[in-house]
Amino acid sequence: MREPRSRALLALLSSARLLLAGFCFIVIEIATHDGTCSPKFNVLFLVSDDMRPQLNAYLGEDFPSSTHPRMHTPHLDGLASRSLLLKRAYVQQAVCSPSRTSLLTGRRPDTTRVYDLQHYFRSVGGNFTTIPQYFKSHGYVTAGMGKIFHPGRASNFNDPISWTEPYYSEDNHHWVEEQKNSWFAVNDEETKKFPLPDQLTAQHAIETLTRLAPKAKTGEQPIFVAVGYHKPHLPFVFPSSFLDFYPREDVQLPKNPFAPAYLPEDVWSDFSELRKYKDVADKYGYGAINTTLPNDVVINLRRAYYSAISYTDSLVGKVLQTLDDLELSNNTIVSFWGDHGWQIGEHGEWCKHTNFEIATHAPMMVHVPGLTNTGIVTEHLTEFVDLFPTLAEAAGLPKIPLCPENSANIATCTEGISMVPLMKSNQDIDWKTAAFSQYPKMLIDGDIMMGYSMRTYQYRYTEWLPFDMPAYKPFDDVPVYVVELYDHAVDPDENVNVADFGSYAAVRKILHEKLSQGWRGALPKSG
Ligand SMILES: *[C@@H]1O[C@H](CO)[C@@H](O)[C@H](O)[C@H]1NC(C)=O
Ligand SMILES: *[C@@H]1O[C@H](CO)[C@@H](O)[C@H](O)[C@H]1NC(C)=O
Ligand SMILES: *[C@@H]1O[C@H](CO)[C@@H](O)[C@H](O)[C@H]1NC(C)=O
Repeated sequence: MREPRSRALLALLSSARLLLAGFCFIVIEIATHDGTCSPKFNVLFLVSDDMRPQLNAYLGEDFPSSTHPRMHTPHLDGLASRSLLLKRAYVQQAVCSPSRTSLLTGRRPDTTRVYDLQHYFRSVGGNFTTIPQYFKSHGYVTAGMGKIFHPGRASNFNDPISWTEPYYSEDNHHWVEEQKNSWFAVNDEETKKFPLPDQLTAQHAIETLTRLAPKAKTGEQPIFVAVGYHKPHLPFVFPSSFLDFYPREDVQLPKNPFAPAYLPEDVWSDFSELRKYKDVADKYGYGAINTTLPNDVVINLRRAYYSAISYTDSLVGKVLQTLDDLELSNNTIVSFWGDHGWQIGEHGEWCKHTNFEIATHAPMMVHVPGLTNTGIVTEHLTEFVDLFPTLAEAAGLPKIPLCPENSANIATCTEGISMVPLMKSNQDIDWKTAAFSQYPKMLIDGDIMMGYSMRTYQYRYTEWLPFDMPAYKPFDDVPVYVVELYDHAVDPDENVNVADFGSYAAVRKILHEKLSQGWRGALPKSG
């Protein structure tokens, strides 16, 4: 007799809680962060490809490198001015699929086991909850378009389980010839008839937001809309009017078109990604260390890269404008990130595929209505794995717990930490003391070494370790292969590897200890 009654009571209680939750859906202003009655923010999740922090909001001495023009990026600068702007955000691996997979699952490459553009994390790492999937499981409509996951097999075709709406991939057959060159400025008028792929994605974003707005505005049906642009990825194809922002005479050569002194040659990347384009292929050497492209080719590529960034910025602007027009801005969290940095001739390098600062440092910003409206700039070290717990907390969803040592069988956890505290008090906060990246490299004999790289406030320290690929970890008891150490206090461009300098022996020892403790050792003590 007692049992049915208590069950009925339970049922009554839980329907009361549902009612209460429903009430919160409608009265969005009731914003408590205790998890019982949460605001339902919408989320606009913006992504760009290969965009280093080359935005006006970031430019400064040596930032992102020592030569840069004034950028024309009004829309991302505007978003930055009402966001938490992460000035020192680092990716976990400077190449598309590993970086995106890591960010989207909140776990690092040694946990996702995705180090290349082929493997799918659910097959090799574990059946991990992604950011959009998490919002979906909390009642959100989730819509993805363009490039969010790496397309194709690497994501089982855009990870269908993450989305409630059919995934949108733009059609791209008109501009095929132009895409064979490393860069091409297309006629603006012609793009009106035959839009470029990212223009189609922006258009789809506008239509999607417009369709979902009525219920998203009231909080009746929260939405998570992910919009991924392909630019400024190679080939740099963009409407030619964007070149006007970068007169040729304003574009400079990099100051350091050479490999760092004392760089172990084995860690060099031969930028084959760039060399496959028709206008570069085989013409300018084979990507060997300390052979760079002719100056006019370097200038043209830099100019095209900047133009492709401004073009992407304009498309971000169109979607942000739509958010305003639909009156969604004040209950929508907006995040933006570029999937890693990019070398445009610094060190004589091109593309990503390295552990250098310029490849691992990427733009990231998060706007949370009411919390970041006046803009917060932080120089604290942050990592791309931090975005998942940040968005969950900012939206008032249950917090994402920290993963245990082995999390292969845990669906929802993270190897990052929420950045919401940085939105509240940025000054004397107890924060992580290093950011971690890694990059694998195959040696001529087929052996693999993994470069584990750590950025502290002053140094970049990288150990290349012989890697046991089938076991997804470095071999035990095998000595370090080579080491890199750059002192950003005196060498922000990373031009001299001081790892073997006697004067840095003590520092190197400390950094070796710190790297051995890994990311867990660098977490805030109060964490
Ligand atoms: C957002 O703006 C609308 C219209 O200006 C207003 O009715 C609503 O209360 C605002 N919501 C929040 C969460 O501030
Ligand atoms: C992965 O997890 C999801 C969500 O819990 C579940 O629906 C799906 O069946 C799982 N897939 C596998 C292969 O276990
Ligand atoms: C590359 O050039 C730099 C600058 O001249 C020099 O310090 C470095 O030793 C060179 N590296 C190789 C491998 O030739």
